[in-house]
Amino acid sequence: MPGCGPGRRIAAPAPSTMEDSQMSTGAISTSDEAAEFYDDMGGMIEVLGSNIHVGYWTDDADRTPLLEAINRFTLIVGDRLRLQPGQHLLDVGCGVGMTAIRLAQRTDATVTGITNSRWQVAEAARRVHDAGLRGQVTIEYGDAAALPYPATSFDAVLSFESLPHAQDRGGWLREMRRVLRPGGRLVLTEFVEEVPLAEPEFSVLRDSVLLPPLLLPGLVETVRGSEFAVDEVVDCGPRIKRSYTAYFGRFARLRDELVAEYGQERVDEHERGLRALLAIYHEKIGYAIVVGHRPA
Ligand SMILES: C[S@@+](CC[C@H](N)C(=O)[O-])C[C@H]1O[C@@H](n2cnc3c(N)ncnc32)[C@H](O)[C@@H]1O
Repeated sequence: MPGCGPGRRIAAPAPSTMEDSQMSTGAISTSDEAAEFYDDMGGMIEVLGSNIHVGYWTDDADRTPLLEAINRFTLIVGDRLRLQPGQHLLDVGCGVGMTAIRLAQRTDATVTGITNSRWQVAEAARRVHDAGLRGQVTIEYGDAAALPYPATSFDAVLSFESLPHAQDRGGWLREMRRVLRPGGRLVLTEFVEEVPLAEPEFSVLRDSVLLPPLLLPGLVETVRGSEFAVDEVVDCGPRIKRSYTAYFGRFARLRDELVAEYGQERVDEHERGLRALLAIYHEKIGYAIVVGHRPA
């Protein structure tokens, strides 16, 4: 789910950090800025049931509530990893470990999650403990751009809405490939451009430490260019976009509790930032699941 924290302005990086020509009008955030963003966000992710990703609706008549649609999407994405008991998954940009916990319970796989938010590491440790999964799920602090793991140490790698924070998507993907064993599966989700964005909109994305989206073919090429074989591409923008309106419905219902916990000013700022951001995502930005593997 894009930008669920309090909106704020961050420094634009130098043009030399641009990922490719499509990035020429958008600036890219640094890992530290993303970490600070998620530390600041903290427990505000309660609105999403403490996940930080979108939900999935089967069609326009599907009236599934937001949290159930989010949990459903965890499985739609997670099942594509085809995890077997005892296999080891790396969840890159794991939030507070909700996906890691759910997939460990569902598959008996071992899961390591990594996030650059120290707040999330502490919160995830509490959740893993409460779920009775100590020893099976581990959440660690680290940077996706330089994964602190040896080569070929995981059976599968997941990147669930974390790639929009990559200063260099290809760099993150090459790190994911390095730590994946030959034949191991990669599943990632990413936002993709449907309608070209204008400069004021790039600025709104920057405020939430988000990279401008690629076109879907560009995203697939970036995955292939990082030496993954691509097995499946699911273009599912229309199936996830209800998340944005549903978010504000749940936000309104939780408002009093959020104000009591975070204060009026912070909650208002959060809502203002998200209304600007999610309008862009609704009108111009789609969503894709990409499944691949590291060739043997
Ligand atoms: C939109 S959230 C998705 C969280 C989780 N995958 C989920 O679906 O609920 C993006 C996540 O990526 C993490 N992240 C952003 N930049 C990172 C980096 N450079 N290294 C590690 N994690 C990063 C954030 O801290 C956050 O946990």
